Amino acid sequence: VTARDGPAVAVLGATGYIGQQFVRLLAEHPQFPLPVLVGGPRAKGRTLQEVWQLPEPPPANLAAADVGPRSPAQLAASGVRLAFSALPSGTAALTERELSRRGVAVFSNAADLRGTAGVPLLVPEVNGQLLRHLPRRNGGRGLIVNNPNCSATGLAIALRPLLGILRIREVHVATYQALSGAGYPGVPSLAITDNVLPYIPEEEEKLASETRYLLGQGRRTPPTPWKVPVWANCARVATRDGHLEAVTIRAEAGPSRSRILAAWREFHPLDGFELPTAPLRPIELREEVDRPQPLRDRWAGAPARARGMAVSVGRVRWEPPMLRFFVLSHNAIRGGAGGSVLNAEWAKALDRLPL
Ligand SMILES: NC(=O)c1ccc[n+]([C@@H]2O[C@H](COP(=O)([O-])OP(=O)(O)OC[C@H]3O[C@@H](n4cnc5c(N)ncnc54)[C@H](OP(=O)(O)O)[C@@H]3O)[C@@H](O)[C@H]2O)c1
Repeated sequence: VTARDGPAVAVLGATGYIGQQFVRLLAEHPQFPLPVLVGGPRAKGRTLQEVWQLPEPPPANLAAADVGPRSPAQLAASGVRLAFSALPSGTAALTERELSRRGVAVFSNAADLRGTAGVPLLVPEVNGQLLRHLPRRNGGRGLIVNNPNCSATGLAIALRPLLGILRIREVHVATYQALSGAGYPGVPSLAITDNVLPYIPEEEEKLASETRYLLGQGRRTPPTPWKVPVWANCARVATRDGHLEAVTIRAEAGPSRSRILAAWREFHPLDGFELPTAPLRPIELREEVDRPQPLRDRWAGAPARARGMAVSVGRVRWEPPMLRFFVLSHNAIRGGAGGSVLNAEWAKALDRLPL
């Protein structure tokens, strides 16, 4: 394969849970060509079909694709200019930096480079402006963009429209996080059946610090964090997909309940950019007394390409100075592969991609 006719896009970690979500989203993408799929050493000689774990069948146009390992040098030499990374944390940094050195833009889910200077942690609806301030020519290096922790993503989207109307003093959040957040095969079945695990390593720290990063200020990467404290309690529960979060905010008495609901309903900062994976309404408000629920609301988002990209907000109670609500977001789509694909579409819209 030569650089001219080789693949322009790659999925790294294509054998894993997030990797397979990338494959679904990129199998028919209106802006990006079909990706080459890259697995770890154990995937040598195997096809996508053989490693597939999601309930729906693999995309027909990629089912027979090889998912064996390929080095950054091989990928760059074969023409790859854009890589989506679903590599395990701890092993991702080396590969991602090596690709960037070779001029490949990297959109990553792994935590390794989060918070590094020059590597934005991005949710376009929340802090999309950060990308505009990065140097356009970076010594020939490819851009590296991370998406934040999956539970921070949902919380930051729900909080963003409130900043203009509420003077928030502190945020408390308790999570009910799905099993798929731990990847495949994830938590042992005997540890979680008939159980709730009130500890997810490093999750509370990430949820607090990344939410404050996303709502932070300034043109630098990393920005000056949001000054409001975020207190998190994180638990793993036996749902498949979708992180539910109970949020309690102490704010100064201010707007009416209907004004708060309107701020969520009218939040659509990406309108007009025509990003294929952006949901028309990033926040879907549920008025029923018992929503949102992971089973019923995890796939919120329209049009069809954006299913799983909207967060659902419900059970809103405003008893000044306390605001309480639940927010639900699909950890593997909005908080994972879909978030990265949207980041790449946003970078393309801002003319920051090498393809
Ligand atoms: N799950 C979520 O909801 C979620 C959300 C946001 C972010 N993330 C992050 O996304 C990343 C992937 O998570 P996941 O849940 O998809 O984990 P996962 O299911 O364990 O998938 C990781 C995959 O990467 C493969 N791999 C290992 N070394 C590799 C290499 N050198 N080159 C290519 N592939 C390699 C692994 O293959 P082998 O098993 O054969 O080693 C595995 O299939 C992690 O960094 C995670 O923290 C996950």
